Amino acid sequence: MEDKNLLQGSGDYAERQWETALRPRTFSEYIGQKKLTENLKLFIGAAKKRGEALDHVLIYGSPGLGKTTLAHIIANEMGVKIRVTAGPLIEKAGDLAALLTNLDTGDVLFIDEIHRLSATVEEVLYPAMEDYKLDIMVGQGPGARTINVPLKKFTLVGATTRIGLLSGPLRNRFGMNLHVDFYPPEDLKEIIKRSAKLLLVPIEEDAAEEIAHRARGTPRIANRLLRRLRDYAQMLGDGTITIKEAKEGLERLEVDKYGLDDLDRKLLSSIINKYGGGPVGLGTLAATVGEEPDTLEEVYEPYLLQIGFLERTRQGRKATKKAYEHLGLKIHPSKPILKGLSD
Ligand code: ADE
Repeated sequence: MEDKNLLQGSGDYAERQWETALRPRTFSEYIGQKKLTENLKLFIGAAKKRGEALDHVLIYGSPGLGKTTLAHIIANEMGVKIRVTAGPLIEKAGDLAALLTNLDTGDVLFIDEIHRLSATVEEVLYPAMEDYKLDIMVGQGPGARTINVPLKKFTLVGATTRIGLLSGPLRNRFGMNLHVDFYPPEDLKEIIKRSAKLLLVPIEEDAAEEIAHRARGTPRIANRLLRRLRDYAQMLGDGTITIKEAKEGLERLEVDKYGLDDLDRKLLSSIINKYGGGPVGLGTLAATVGEEPDTLEEVYEPYLLQIGFLERTRQGRKATKKAYEHLGLKIHPSKPILKGLSD
């Protein structure tokens, strides 16, 4: 299946398989995020020395930066098993109880999108994280009582794209907070070269560099671009990704020199052309470009903010001078014609 687009991917089985195959499994294979990995190595080393389970770890950062990869590396380096789930999949307190009671000492429970846990499930999680016990209500009315189930000492690794949506009490129960940042092009270049080697695709040095600059600071996007360009090079050349093929292929994919795709440009040009440069509310903007507000906020905006194309103000989103310049648009001093409600 074709990717929906480069940022969101298809999310299908083939794509997930492909991503798993390229995932580094140990710190020695992992490229970049030096400060984060040094801290994590210390934390893991100390826990192993004491012969204890690792304390709970919260990982936050934009999609595609490797939060799941880090959770697997943590389990691998600790030499324990990992159970993988996600906030929206844990519907009832009983679902969480089933997961927790199946863990062995030291095992990692990875909860992706942990900000999407319901309040009732969170309530069950607190004593589990803090005292390794479950307090479960059984029965109703006057006969209702709580039963106490002891748990093995496990490690919760939570991941979120939205640290601001996490409740204070939940956040406070993690022993370590790790922030995964966008990767600089130098690191992405190394990641691309590593992936190309695993895929047995020859790639020229400057082609790897070109892709690295257009990958939005995100390994998942770098790897998606690599996979697309591999196809392109195999169809049109001898299979080697040369700088010429990389540039032509990226042009065909409509990825510009900042790595922006169609929707990024639509978003910025809407702010500029329809709302006089902003500020415009997120909901209005989402309706204008035909996307979910959450997708804009989680997937598209962080990178546009990081490269200084977008500003978030209390009144809404604004395009910056840099965005006007990149899109070749003029700043109009006149009043905006339409103005979105701030939200
Ligand atoms: N593939 C995706 N992310 C990676 C990373 N940080 N290091 C090596 N390979 C990767």
